[in-house]
Amino acid sequence: MKFLNLLILALPARFALAATYNLVDNILGTAFLTTFNFQAISDPTHGRVNYVDASTAQRLNLTYAAGDTFILRADSKTVLDPNGPGRNSVRIQSKKTYTTHVSVYNIRHMPQGCGTWPAVWENGPNWPNGGEVDVLEGVNDKGPNQVTLHTSAGCSMPASRSQTGTPAQNDCNVAVNSNAGCGVKMTDSRSYGPAFNSNGGGWFAVERTSTFIKAWFWPRNAGNVPADVKNGQTVVNTGSWGTPSAYFPNTQCDIASHFKAHNIIINLTFCGDWAGSAYSSSGCPSGCVDFVNKNPGSFSNAFFDFASLRVYT
Ligand SMILES: *[C@@H]1O[C@H](CO)[C@@H](O)[C@H](O)[C@H]1NC(C)=O
Ligand SMILES: *[C@@H]1O[C@H](CO)[C@@H](O)[C@H](O)[C@H]1NC(C)=O
Repeated sequence: MKFLNLLILALPARFALAATYNLVDNILGTAFLTTFNFQAISDPTHGRVNYVDASTAQRLNLTYAAGDTFILRADSKTVLDPNGPGRNSVRIQSKKTYTTHVSVYNIRHMPQGCGTWPAVWENGPNWPNGGEVDVLEGVNDKGPNQVTLHTSAGCSMPASRSQTGTPAQNDCNVAVNSNAGCGVKMTDSRSYGPAFNSNGGGWFAVERTSTFIKAWFWPRNAGNVPADVKNGQTVVNTGSWGTPSAYFPNTQCDIASHFKAHNIIINLTFCGDWAGSAYSSSGCPSGCVDFVNKNPGSFSNAFFDFASLRVYT
């Protein structure tokens, strides 16, 4: 004990032990099927989607798990009746919730195709009061990735802060500017869509404390992937991960009160509020709903392939 105390005193502040986290959930392959619930709900963002339940997803092979592979995808076989339901797809939500934690998403492939709107995010109760953190999100194959917080009123970000990404709007309040939230665009084009996929994907990580939220991205085979991330170690030290892509400090936002216990959600929708409205400016053919209805083959790459999800506290 004495020895440990001495050690702590001897460490410079930037190696604070608070940056060390221990693995609590090591989710690979079939573990996604037991640690997440399938949500056959109607899309709150009005997408051209039909979220199916667990047994339907497995029967149609929209989810597939083996070894260190977990696939989640949309149907790429069916021409849709324009008057019927949307394209079959999957939305899953973690059974567990997390407050202060680190999550590391090792993803080999993400959904691509005109009209796709995939998301990996962490969401609180009684939206927007419990807060929302969008880790990986975009539409119509347009990168780079944007990390966004959505909150109730009274949470905004300083214009200048220590991050490599580019802030869009600094007010996180969902009531401002049609729920744009406070987003930060990553600088690396390999963080989203076809460029992410052709590079073999990579790692997204989020660190949430009571005083800040940070997010990082490392492309597959990049020279700067931290060893603890790359090797899926049982202890990670965020203090050695370098400047985050996105940094959300508590200077004008009480993080602890705006962000409650969060579920992790993985979803893939089509068109809807964002992908639909951005569709015509994204170089995609015809109209979004019409394209999604008529071109199942265009969605053969509309799938996530997760190598792992590791959560640390
Ligand atoms: C999918 O994820 C995004 C994440 O930002 C969310 O805004 C949207 O409501 C989600 N859609 C569905 C249907 O769950
Ligand atoms: C289900 O999907 C997996 C992963 O893409 C694939 O390897 C497998 O062959 C598929 N199974 C069937 C029955 O199509």
